[in-house]
Amino acid sequence: MYNISRNNAYKKQGFQGTYNNLFEIEPTRPGASNTNNTDDTDPTNVCPLHTPEARKYHYLEQDRYVHSPHLTPQLVHLLFAHQPPTHKLATLAGMSALTRNRTTQTMPNDLMLEYYVQRARGGAGLIVSEGTLITRQGTEWPAAPGLWDRSQIAGWRKITDAVHAAGSKMYAQLSHGGRANHPDAPEQVASGVPVYAPSAIAARGGKFRFIPGEPGYVVPTVLPDPTTIVAEFKQAAINAKEAGFDGVELHGASGYLVNQFLDFTSNHRTDKWGGSAANRARFAIETLKALKEVWGSDVAIKLSPAGGHNDVGMPLPDTIETFGYLLREVEKLGLAYVALVRYNPARDPMFDGKPRGTPHDVLATFRPFLLTTPIFINGGVTPGEAESLMASGSVAGVFMGSTWISHPDVARRIKAGRPLDNVVDFAHLYGKEGVDPAVGYLDYAEAVY
Ligand SMILES: Cc1cc2nc3c(=O)[nH]c(=O)nc-3n(C[C@H](O)[C@H](O)[C@H](O)COP(=O)(O)O)c2cc1C
Repeated sequence: MYNISRNNAYKKQGFQGTYNNLFEIEPTRPGASNTNNTDDTDPTNVCPLHTPEARKYHYLEQDRYVHSPHLTPQLVHLLFAHQPPTHKLATLAGMSALTRNRTTQTMPNDLMLEYYVQRARGGAGLIVSEGTLITRQGTEWPAAPGLWDRSQIAGWRKITDAVHAAGSKMYAQLSHGGRANHPDAPEQVASGVPVYAPSAIAARGGKFRFIPGEPGYVVPTVLPDPTTIVAEFKQAAINAKEAGFDGVELHGASGYLVNQFLDFTSNHRTDKWGGSAANRARFAIETLKALKEVWGSDVAIKLSPAGGHNDVGMPLPDTIETFGYLLREVEKLGLAYVALVRYNPARDPMFDGKPRGTPHDVLATFRPFLLTTPIFINGGVTPGEAESLMASGSVAGVFMGSTWISHPDVARRIKAGRPLDNVVDFAHLYGKEGVDPAVGYLDYAEAVY
């Protein structure tokens, strides 16, 4: 039997098992046999957190006990079901979605397989795929992957099978760029549809390096009926299931389509999809409901209420009203998790000499809206901070992004006490014309163990 112990709060609650660190699994019950026993009065039941309240969050997964006041059964299933019993690392430090622009014309390939498997071997309990387009679209990354066609499904299937064999779970991040697409981008031309967005308001910024003149964003076409894109999200979710993913994360962050609906600077609609906070949140909620029809509770959403990326952001009271409304509704849906991205000035564009985003403490602000839905915090999270955030009970887990770019073995390093000292090869972040795509992608060194 294994006890997964990960925070000091357990010590305070009288936890007697072996405590090491956030990421440790220790054998603590070698003689235990009656593993399904939840009878308080049975003396053979030696569960260290054996109170009715604790038992609510006490799950037997494969051959190990999992204890956490923050783990729902859903999260336990998500994070641990694929960890073979011999795998001594159960990490709550997931890998967030990272666009790397390495497909073969939107088709997932063996290069990507190797990249994700490196990170699964490196201990990522949950990997979220790079932003994966639900339909053909002309984004700034012409080699971003898609999930609308059979070859893409087959390509992803190879990747998810390999990631599972290496011991990790994988969610597909479903994405639609909305106005952050360009009508002259080859994929957009091939799609046969205009660049749709909630309203005909151009985002400032953007740089389409592969289009002559490197243009920026354009005034988009008003999306006539948002339910058409909700249906496309649903089809992509069906495809994600066939592709062997463990669930889907709706990309509601970074100023892409879902975020464009939420934000009243990009959404001036006067129908039921615009205006009030409830109306602006409708697109996100309807999409989540459609994803749930396919996936049940294996659905998540990523939000960046503080960020100004792609020219979104509202004054703080409106931000709180809008995202607060959305999260209250999300709470009713029963999602696997909500990923909240913290404010990062380095990722906030400047317009008219001012940062575009709405700096505030997203965790403190929105934690109260999510009483049962697990929160994963993201944005500059260090291992030490992750441990204290979890110990304080404010999050269920963390996502790291950039750290996983330059370290294929983040979780293994943390467990072994190795420094996270590789530097990101920015020149090859998204690949480079004429350079082997493996450079700056597959060549980051693991630590010596
Ligand atoms: C190269 C790069 C690509 C990214 N691509 C995506 C993406 O496809 N989808 C997404 O939701 N976030 C994307 N992000 C944001 C990260 O997932 C993460 O939210 C952000 O980097 C903050 O986490 P960190 O400070 O740990 O890096 C990307 C970030 C980087 C650096």
